[in-house]
Amino acid sequence: MNDAATVNRPARRVALDALRRIEDDGAYANLVLGPMLSSSGLGDMDRRFVTELVYGTTRMRRACDSIIDRFVTSAPDDATRSVLRLGAYQLVFAGVAPHAAVSETVGLAPKRTRGFVNAVLRKVARLSAAEMSWPSDGARLSYPDWIVETFREELGDDAIPALERMNQAPPVSERADGYVQDESSQWVAAAVEATAAERVLDVCAAPGGKATAIATGGALVVAGDHRSGRVRLVQENSRKLDLDIAVVAADGLMPPFPPESFDAVLLDAPCSGLGALRRRADARWRIQTKDISELAALQGRLLTASAEMVRPGGRLIYSVCTITAAESVEHATPAGFEVDQTPPATGTWRPFRQGWRVLPHDADTDGMVMIRYRRTT
Ligand SMILES: C[S@@+](CC[C@H](N)C(=O)[O-])C[C@H]1O[C@@H](n2cnc3c(N)ncnc32)[C@H](O)[C@@H]1O
Repeated sequence: MNDAATVNRPARRVALDALRRIEDDGAYANLVLGPMLSSSGLGDMDRRFVTELVYGTTRMRRACDSIIDRFVTSAPDDATRSVLRLGAYQLVFAGVAPHAAVSETVGLAPKRTRGFVNAVLRKVARLSAAEMSWPSDGARLSYPDWIVETFREELGDDAIPALERMNQAPPVSERADGYVQDESSQWVAAAVEATAAERVLDVCAAPGGKATAIATGGALVVAGDHRSGRVRLVQENSRKLDLDIAVVAADGLMPPFPPESFDAVLLDAPCSGLGALRRRADARWRIQTKDISELAALQGRLLTASAEMVRPGGRLIYSVCTITAAESVEHATPAGFEVDQTPPATGTWRPFRQGWRVLPHDADTDGMVMIRYRRTT
């Protein structure tokens, strides 16, 4: 479709098109939405509405399906189901007036199923909160069962509050230098405790949130990442903040530096992201259980390689934006290191075995685990 044809498409139509790309083609919500909004011709208010509809319907997909399925006897086709989800989300979660939600959404359905969509959405609109019954917490909170189970095993009574919090949009937290960064990430950067002129290696640095926070304090930061496209993000962020960071494309499994050449090394490792699910509406539907064990194996190797970069007496800080033990405290302490159990000076950290953990509902941040080590030999 050319730009002229897409200009001024009403908001719900744009939202539905984006949803279909996400649901049917497996497109990433954050990648699909921007270009669609740009070519939509919609004003700012409508764009915000579309964003809320797309992210919200994606996040609450399972809950919407659970509500819809009470009123259908045979499975609707994919196109019709997408419209029903969009309608149910507006009615149950977004507080859109029932008349507008139903009438404006029904018109988006394929002609042959409009009557059916109308009937189902009217029933959904009449459901009161008291009549909402859910087959499981996974359906109510709209997560795959394995994620609910994983959180229960890892967090016990904190599982449901953590999952509930991750269904809410994150607050925007801005650092003193204007960089927008979740507070829990700021706490990890602070926990490096880098002093001016110290040499610090950030092994997995892109897009540069923690590297720039550390450099702001005057440390000499080397920021690496293995993907050149992401390395450019670190360069851009460093330039915007007028910082002098040495940015390198480098595989953290084979760091291109002499051993023992840094006072502190931060390994903010690639992880399942189970603590940061509020940031990516579709992430919960993408992550698989097997990802956790694969990532844990990679993290272990990155930890060993990173440890070699630390000078005797220096610090190694390991962090992940997930809450699982397998991706954090189950990693062996690198040879020649001891755990530093001094409580971090900044942040709402809970002790978690040899490390520290932040839960999303403690201070409205992402969930995070951090372990600090010191090189003894
Ligand atoms: C959690 S993100 C880092 C976020 C970053 N520290 C920040 O605060 O902005 C993990 C990063 O690890 C990078 N990564 C994954 N495998 C890597 C490897 N083998 N070597 C270096 N970087 C890697 C990914 O490209 C990704 O940018």
